[in-house]
Amino acid sequence: MDNFLGRTNRKNYFYGIITYAKSMTDFNSIIYHRRSIRNFKNQPVETEKIEWLLKAALLAPSGKRMYPCEFIVIDDIKLLKLVSESKQHGAELLKDAPLAIAVIADSAIYDIWVEDASIASAFIMLEAENLGLGCCWVQMHQRGTADGKSATQNLKEVLGLKDSHEILSVLAIGYKDEEKRAYTDTDLKMEKIHHNKFDRKTEKK
Ligand SMILES: Cc1cc2nc3c(=O)[nH]c(=O)nc-3n(C[C@H](O)[C@H](O)[C@H](O)COP(=O)(O)O)c2cc1C
Repeated sequence: MDNFLGRTNRKNYFYGIITYAKSMTDFNSIIYHRRSIRNFKNQPVETEKIEWLLKAALLAPSGKRMYPCEFIVIDDIKLLKLVSESKQHGAELLKDAPLAIAVIADSAIYDIWVEDASIASAFIMLEAENLGLGCCWVQMHQRGTADGKSATQNLKEVLGLKDSHEILSVLAIGYKDEEKRAYTDTDLKMEKIHHNKFDRKTEKK
């Protein structure tokens, strides 16, 4: 009997199926359970878990293998406060998070850095859920403060960025201190799905 690698080995074949089925279930569970978590316990995230978050970031695909992204791990309370003030709305949660990862990119390396940085951010979010951690994406790109400065401008010095660096997101991470229900199939916006052509009948007026 052939296993997934085309090798004839009954034991490995069944082991392969079990591993495959388990990883499918785990992944499906992760995508239903992941929610934006904005309240964290006052408990540091273990180094090993931080390493897994970073491995996930580094495993994210990159267009043309350009890899313009860099990841800054922030656990200094003073820095987290400054980062939380770098845009007008929606970043306050960072000041009380034990950990954040800033997803930055060198726009001089790659014009479509936003896509690379987005997929890396999503990988980190999913890995956080996989590790039993909460996470929330805080948008920085195209956001800023009331004085008209962009979040990237505000954070250039704080995070020691180069002129060609841009920040897409800062991910707040930590042990969850709030309960959010997992999604179920009833939450799925099925009208967003189309078959062969965009179906105007399903458009919301
Ligand atoms: C591109 C993007 C930007 C976001 N920016 C922020 C933000 O700046 N601050 C924040 O508190 N949440 C932010 N979020 C989280 C969303 O508000 C959240 O994903 C949405 O409400 C759906 O909830 P869920 O993540 O629990 O499914 C962002 C999410 C995405 C994908």
